[in-house]
Formats: sequence, C-alpha cells, structure tokens
Amino acid sequence: MQQSGMIRRIVLLLLILSLPAVSNAIAADELYCISCHRGVTPGYVQDWEVSRHAAMGIDCAVCHGEDHQSADDPHMVQLPTEEVCAMCHQDQYDQFAAGKHNHGWKSLNAMAVTHVEPPELMDGSRGCGGCHNMGIKSEDELQAHKDKGYRYQVNSCDECHTRHSFSKTEAQDPRACQMCHMGYDHPQWEMWSSAKHGTRWFARDSGNLPDNAVAPTCQHCHLPGGTHTNRTAWGFFGVRLPLPDDPKWAKDRTTILKALGIINPQTGELTERLKVLQSLDMARLTERDWQAERGKMLDICAGCHSRSYARKQLKTGDAMIQKADELMAGAIQIVADLYADGIIEKPEDYLFAYPDFWYFLRTAGHRLENLSHIDQVLFQMFMKHRMRVYQGCFHLNPDYAYWYGWAMMTKDMGEIQKSAALLRQAHAEKNNIAWYRKLFR
Ligand code: HEC
Ligand code: HEC
Ligand code: HEC
Ligand code: HEC
Ligand code: HEC
Ligand code: HEC
Ligand code: HEC
Ligand code: HEC
Repeated sequence: MQQSGMIRRIVLLLLILSLPAVSNAIAADELYCISCHRGVTPGYVQDWEVSRHAAMGIDCAVCHGEDHQSADDPHMVQLPTEEVCAMCHQDQYDQFAAGKHNHGWKSLNAMAVTHVEPPELMDGSRGCGGCHNMGIKSEDELQAHKDKGYRYQVNSCDECHTRHSFSKTEAQDPRACQMCHMGYDHPQWEMWSSAKHGTRWFARDSGNLPDNAVAPTCQHCHLPGGTHTNRTAWGFFGVRLPLPDDPKWAKDRTTILKALGIINPQTGELTERLKVLQSLDMARLTERDWQAERGKMLDICAGCHSRSYARKQLKTGDAMIQKADELMAGAIQIVADLYADGIIEKPEDYLFAYPDFWYFLRTAGHRLENLSHIDQVLFQMFMKHRMRVYQGCFHLNPDYAYWYGWAMMTKDMGEIQKSAALLRQAHAEKNNIAWYRKLFR
C-alpha cells in the first residue's frame, strides 16, 4: 500500500518537473503535510526547506508515504528505509551495499556480548546501536527490531547526510565521521585531527592555509572519488589470512585467532565463527584481497607523496602489528594457562576454557557478579591498546601509536604477569585467602 503510494508520488514528481501548469495543484497537496508540520515540527520543515530535495519538489510524503493524515494517526507513517532512497539514488545505494558499512548492524548482533546488554544500548540507538545503525536491514531484521518495540533507526543514509537537509557537503566534512570513529577502540577522529593531515585541514578551514592547499580527509582516503564503498586492508581486528611466512608471527596470530574463537584452542581447527568473519567481511581472507585494498590506499597516498615514501609509512604500520601481536599473544597465553590449570574458571557461556574476546569486557559471559579481572586487562590490551598501535601508525599519530598504544600494552603485560603470579600463588597455598581470589579471579 505504502509502496504504491510512493510510486504515485514519483509520478507526481515527474509531473511537477514536466508540467508547470499542474505544479500549483501539486504544491497545494505538498503543503498538506507541511502546513500542519510547520506547527508540529517547525525545525524539520525548515531543515527540509534548505535541502536539494525541497528544491526538486521531493516532499515529506515521497519518503514518508500518505497513510498518516492527521494528528490522530502518526503511527501510520512510513519511516523510510534505504530502499526508499534507492528509488532515486541507486548508485549510492549499490556502492554502500558493497562496502563495510553495510555490515555494521550484523556485526554488532554477531557478538556474543550484544545479547547480554540492555536493549536500550543496542536496538534502542544509544551505546553500540547508536553507531552500528550502519547497514541495510533485512526484512527479518526489521521485523525483529519492530518486535522488540523499536520504531526508529531504519535508515543508514542519514548517518552522514543527516535529516532533513540531506546535504552532500555535510557528508564531505570529516566531522561527519566523528561521532562513530572516536573513543575507546577506534579513535581515528582523535588521531587524524591531531596529526598533520588533520591539523592542515583545520588550518585551511580557518583560513590559515590557501583554499587550494591539500589536506586529506577521512573521505579522501576511505571514500575516494565519491564512492560509498569502504573497506581497508587490515580492517578493525588487524588480522588476516593466509598466515604470514614468519613462523613466530604466524604462531602469534594463531593465538589471537583462538582468543577470537575462530580457531578452536583445543583442536586447532577452524570454528563456525570463521563463517561469521567471512560473511561480514571482518578480515581479508586471501593475499589478493588484502593486496587489492593496500594497492588502492597506496595510489591515494601517491597522489601527494612519493610512492616510496608512502609505502614505507604503510609498512611501519604492518611492522607494528607484528610487534604488537607478539606481546598480545604472550599475554593471551598467560591467561589461557590460568584457564587450563583451573585457576580461573571458564564462564558458562564462553566457547572454550580460553579467553573469549566476543564477550568484550563481560568476562563472565552473562553473569555480572563474577567478572574476571585479569581477563578484563587482557581484553583492554587487545581492544584498546593493540588497536591504537596500528591505528595510530596508519593515521600518523605518534602519541597514539606510542603512549596510548604500545606503552599501554607493555603496562598491561606487566599487570597480567603480576596478577597471574599472585593467582597461582594463592591457588597453590590454598589458604583461606578467598577475599583475594575474589579480587583477582
Ligand atoms: C493535521 C496535522 C498533521 C498532518 C496533516 C500531518 N501530520 Fe505528520 N504528524 C502530526 C503529529 C501531531 C505528529 C506526532 C508528533 C509527535 O509525536 O510529537 C506527526 C508525526 C509525523 C512523523 C513522525 C512519526 C514518528 O513516528 O515519529 C512524520 C514522519 C510525519 N508526521 C510525516 C507526515 C507526512 C508525510 C504527512 C503528509 C502525508 C503528515 N505528516 C501530515 C501532525 C500532522
Ligand atoms: C528524502 C526523504 C525524506 C523526506 C523528503 C522527509 N523525510 Fe522525514 N525522515 C526521513 C528519514 C530517513 C527519517 C529517519 C527514519 C529512521 O528512523 O531511521 C525521517 C524521520 C522523520 C521524523 C521522525 C524522526 C525525528 O527525528 O523526529 C519526522 C518527524 C520527520 N521525518 C518529518 C518529516 C517532515 C515533516 C518532512 C517534510 C517537511 C519530511 N520528514 C521529509 C526521510 C525523509
Ligand atoms: C523521489 C526521488 C528521491 C528520493 C526518494 C530521495 N532523493 Fe535524494 N535527491 C533527489 C534529487 C532529485 C536530488 C537532487 C539532485 C541534484 O541536485 O542534481 C537529490 C539529492 C540528494 C543528495 C545530495 C544533496 C546535495 O547537497 O547535493 C543527497 C545526499 C540525497 N539526495 C540523499 C537522499 C537520501 C538519504 C534519501 C533517502 C532518505 C533520498 N535522497 C531520497 C531525489 C530523491
Ligand atoms: C553512524 C556511525 C558511523 C559513521 C557516521 C561513520 N562510520 Fe565508518 N564505520 C562504522 C561502523 C559501525 C563500522 C564497522 C562496520 C562493521 O561492523 O562491519 C565502520 C567501518 C568503517 C570503515 C571500515 C574499516 C574496515 O573494517 O576496513 C571505514 C574505512 C570507515 N568506517 C570510514 C568512515 C568514514 C570515512 C566516515 C565518514 C565519512 C564514516 N566511516 C562514518 C560507523 C560509522
Ligand atoms: C562510538 C561508536 C561505536 C560504539 C558505541 C560501538 N561501536 Fe563497534 N564499531 C564502531 C566503528 C566505527 C567500528 C569500525 C572501527 C574500525 O574499523 O576501526 C566498529 C567495529 C566493530 C566491530 C568489528 C566489525 C568488523 O567487521 O571488524 C564489532 C564486532 C563491533 N564494532 C561491535 C560493537 C559492540 C558489540 C559494541 C557495544 C558493546 C560496539 N561495537 C560499540 C563504532 C562503535
Ligand atoms: C559514511 C558516510 C556516508 C553514508 C553512510 C552515506 N553517504 Fe552519501 N555521500 C557521502 C559522501 C562523503 C558524499 C560526497 C561524495 C563526493 O565527494 O562526491 C556523498 C554523496 C551522496 C550523494 C550525492 C552524489 C552527488 O555526487 O551529487 C547522494 C545522492 C548520496 N550520497 C546518497 C546516499 C545514500 C542513498 C546513502 C545510503 C544508502 C548514503 N548516501 C550514505 C557519505 C555518505
Ligand atoms: C591519509 C589517508 C587517511 C586519512 C586521512 C584517514 N585514514 Fe583511516 N586509514 C588509512 C590507512 C592507510 C589505514 C590502514 C589501511 C590498512 O589496513 O592497510 C586506515 C585505516 C582506517 C580504519 C580501519 C582501522 C584502522 O584504523 O586501522 C578506519 C575505520 C579508518 N581508517 C577511519 C578513518 C577516519 C574516520 C578518518 C578521519 C577521521 C580517517 N580514517 C582518516 C588512511 C587514512
Ligand atoms: C591530498 C594530499 C595527501 C595525501 C593523499 C596524503 N598525504 Fe600525507 N601529507 C600531506 C601533507 C601536505 C603533509 C604535510 C607535510 C609536512 O609535514 O611537511 C603530509 C604529511 C604526511 C606525513 C608526515 C607526518 C608528520 O608527522 O610529519 C606522513 C608520514 C604522511 N603524510 C603519510 C601519508 C600516507 C601514508 C598517505 C596515504 C595513506 C598520505 N600521507 C596521504 C598530504 C597528503
């Protein structure tokens, strides 16, 4: 019903564009939603009026349908999914669908931790769900969303072109990426904005560099040429296949894959989670795939720098992943040994008696009363500090790469070593130091 209403609007739109004579009658129809909404949501009418859509006669009903007609039936209104935008922006829709952003909602829901957190922070659009509303939801997902009592957050396009001005220049501004690419485990905003590429952009923005001075933005490197398809070589987790030739690094990465639950720590076999990794494009799984992304990035750098300079810079990031992996794997092994020796207990819903990073900081799975402290230090080392080492290198930020990244990893390592020794001692002595075990379990 809504669909046919929409098609009618499109036909009307074409009429507006082709027949000036009818446009007055249509304008009256358009004003129907608008005249009431000028009173109800005046700010949104104003914002729509500054949009290209308003200039082109694309009014409220084109996106929202006509089922809601009065103050009594706003629940009848259609909240437009990306499919609605696709009616007129098929290219951007297809590009978006092929990129990493399209997996945001699914990867959120693929994590074991999602199901133990307050729904308000997931589907409810704060917390994880506030940023992971990136991705076209399937019919089933939309239904599940609705069944949980959630109505909004059905469109990803307004994450960069916010409603209702739906502006292109807003999305070209690096600040359009800031809300999500910041903070705990992905502070690309902080890194970029305080390193040379970003400070140049700000200097130019405030008139302290000529308008034509170069200053690469997030979009310049990650959505080049106006594309909506995004993906990087190393991805978020900084793992990939095939395993590297270097035997030590291969062993370290294997340990990390175990803590991600992708390799079974007991049998060494790949688990079901590999399929998730694959279907959500969480890592490049072939050399070719990885090289393709790396090649694209190198071409972008080479638009300003010499290719050799740029290649060297990117290699620095790769090398630091290797070094960070060595430290990380060592720490995982220490905690894994505590599980193996029964010194800390396997939480019921962990896959194995082994650290499980898919529970994030919920190191007791569903149960909040029994968190493992040492496992939390380990998780923070992985998710916050290891990430900062390479994210900082790739975004050319010395402070993040060193102090917030590498230095913190070594600090975590110290804490893990010390806590493990104390836990072992307490376990061996088996005296009544239950208070102690409770503290450091
Ligand atoms: C007679 C007044 C009136 C008319 C006409 C009207 N609306 Fe509304 N609309 C409202 C009111 C009242 C609300 C509820 C606002 C609230 O929740 O505070 C609303 C809510 C909405 C919402 C938000 C719904 C939600 O779930 O948050 C949208 C979108 C909307 N209207 C679009 C339209 C469109 C499109 C038309 C024309 C087809 C239209 N409105 C016509 C009064 C009107
Ligand atoms: C180009 C498509 C488009 C047009 C045109 C459009 N909207 Fe929307 N509108 C959206 C999208 C997308 C959402 C967010 C849906 C979601 O929850 O994910 C939205 C949500 C809303 C909401 C509810 C969310 C909120 O922030 O309060 C209101 C109210 C609303 N629109 C009013 C209007 C009015 C009034 C007009 C006409 C002046 C209008 N819209 C025109 C796309 C459009
Ligand atoms: C009925 C067709 C139609 C629908 C539906 C539609 N748009 Fe548009 N959109 C247009 C037209 C026409 C333009 C103006 C193109 C131009 O300026 O040449 C436009 C322009 C834009 C622009 C560029 C604005 C600028 O500043 O240059 C963005 C971004 C955009 N639309 C996003 C969206 C999003 C997001 C949705 C869905 C919520 C949507 N559109 C739905 C037809 C539509
Ligand atoms: C509403 C939140 C949000 C905004 C705004 C946002 N992103 Fe993202 N971005 C995400 C999420 C979530 C992911 C991870 C997607 C997934 O889970 O697969 C992501 C992933 C990415 C990746 C892929 C990293 C990889 O795994 O290879 C790049 C690159 C990226 N975003 C760049 C940008 C740029 C550039 C902008 C601004 C133009 C931007 N993002 C705006 C949430 C956002
Ligand atoms: C501030 C916004 C934000 C919040 C809050 C957030 N994320 Fe993310 N998430 C992102 C961005 C951005 C990325 C991509 C970062 C990158 O590639 O460096 C991402 C990446 C991910 C990935 C990896 C996707 C991949 O394919 O590599 C998973 C899984 C994930 N987030 C789950 C969660 C969960 C679960 C929560 C809540 C416990 C959460 N996120 C909270 C923005 C957010
Ligand atoms: C991660 C941020 C981001 C998201 C999400 C996003 N866009 Fe864009 N969009 C951009 C950027 C950046 C540009 C400017 C591209 C350029 O420089 O030409 C743009 C440009 C556009 C334009 C204008 C194209 C032109 O050249 O006039 C349209 C239309 C558009 N986007 C539609 C969409 C639609 C539809 C969706 C959802 C499927 C969407 N966008 C989601 C960042 C985004
Ligand atoms: C000068 C180019 C450049 C700019 C500008 C840039 N990035 Fe990156 N970005 C990179 C490179 C290089 C990588 C690592 C690619 C790889 O995996 O080899 C990367 C990686 C990423 C990733 C994947 C995880 C990570 O950090 O390694 C995300 C997400 C991301 N960038 C987002 C952003 C955002 C958001 C901005 C703006 C605040 C931004 N980038 C600015 C070049 C850039
Ligand atoms: C649009 C042009 C442009 C692009 C693209 C670009 N850069 Fe830059 N880059 C600059 C400028 C300008 C500077 C400042 C030069 C200086 O420090 O004197 C700079 C600085 C740097 C620096 C030195 C930072 C410092 O702390 O001194 C490094 C390293 C660097 N870029 C690496 C890269 C890499 C790697 C890429 C690709 C991922 C890249 N750049 C893409 C223009 C660009």
